[in-house]
Amino acid sequence: MSLEDRAKAAQQKAYAPYSKFKVGASLRVSGQVFDGANIEIASYSLTICAERTAMSAAVVAGAHDLEEVAVCTDASPPSSPCGACRQFLYEFARDPKAVKVTAINGKGERRSWTLAELLPDGFSGRELP
Ligand code: THU
Repeated sequence: MSLEDRAKAAQQKAYAPYSKFKVGASLRVSGQVFDGANIEIASYSLTICAERTAMSAAVVAGAHDLEEVAVCTDASPPSSPCGACRQFLYEFARDPKAVKVTAINGKGERRSWTLAELLPDGFSGRELP
């Protein structure tokens, strides 16, 4: 199954009773694929996005090298990852210019960028002491 088809399937797993905006994300990390979906709770600000649940699953499995991202929503045009998710994904991108991010929806629309385009001059932590 393609990364995009995985993201479409993951979207069905979203727990989004408040916004009803379901998001699925599938990431290729260190050669393996990890899926995620958004999870909302009644204390709204504690919601976690699909991209971050997927990346968290990868890290817990010991995979750290982010290679490719697919995100599926019902938005038209397809939604790009939020700012917080861009920063979170950036942490695990050895070369943000080489990480392709594709956003799709169920209508077959598609947009894509590199992670470097989505987060130019991102903070990497290399500046930390
Ligand atoms: N959401 C994501 O899962 N990923 C994003 O990049 C943007 C937003 C979720 C969070 C919330 O559950 C819903 O979409 C509406 O903001």
